[in-house]
Amino acid sequence: MRAKDIRTRSGDDPVTMLTAYDAPTAAVVEEVGVDMVLVGDSVGNLRLGHDATLPVTVDEIATRTAAVARATDEPLVVADMPFLSFGVDEAESVRNCGRMLKEAGADAVKLECGPHTVDLTRRLTRLGVPVQAHLGLTPQRENETGLFRQATDEESAAETLELAREHEAAGAFSLVLEHVPANVAAAVTEPLEIPTIGIGAGPDTDGQVLTVDEVIGLTEGVAPFSKAFGDVREEMRSAVAAYVDAVEAGDFPAAEHSHEESDLDDLY
Ligand code: KIV
Repeated sequence: MRAKDIRTRSGDDPVTMLTAYDAPTAAVVEEVGVDMVLVGDSVGNLRLGHDATLPVTVDEIATRTAAVARATDEPLVVADMPFLSFGVDEAESVRNCGRMLKEAGADAVKLECGPHTVDLTRRLTRLGVPVQAHLGLTPQRENETGLFRQATDEESAAETLELAREHEAAGAFSLVLEHVPANVAAAVTEPLEIPTIGIGAGPDTDGQVLTVDEVIGLTEGVAPFSKAFGDVREEMRSAVAAYVDAVEAGDFPAAEHSHEESDLDDLY
């Protein structure tokens, strides 16, 4: 899949996107036929033990992206650019984003956007780095905005729509809309030609994205707009508990889990 295939997917055929941060998870996500795999900076909270996305580094996203890219062929692999890896200096932003395609095997990058990313989106797109824009709640700005629903008044809703249009005009191939009212997401989706991918943004976007950890039920709880479709945490707990019980009871390893070399009987 290429960014140009996603660009034309606004309309009736919902686009599916899920995060993945490692090869085995990405392989399952591909097996099920997900369109886009996002190597999200949510890896910081979900897998690296941070309580925010801010500490995630370019190296961490590059390593995780490379694992996901090695494990998948079909879905579009999107590397989520971490806090301050873009937007400070244009040359450095281009180098960091370019590295995701050149070294890590990503097909595109995602930028948490604002007025400062319109020109960067244009530059990256012209250089051949497809950009997925991200508006609404942008957790990298949590110290400014908090982690609350965004675009909740007329002025900020209008600003979101304007920024969406500007990023589309600058070349973004799709737009993630996070935690905005459903009617605002619908109003942003309607005039855009590129697909909108919602998370906590209601049913009227062109696609949906969630973190895979929430979807499989690995996290202790889920965001109010998310949903656990499985209970992997309980599966893990019960497998680990069964292993500990078996070792403590002397049931593991059993005869079939090891072997003896008869030639070595006289070794000691
Ligand atoms: O990092 C992430 O997982 C994201 C999605 C929630 C869109 O940015």
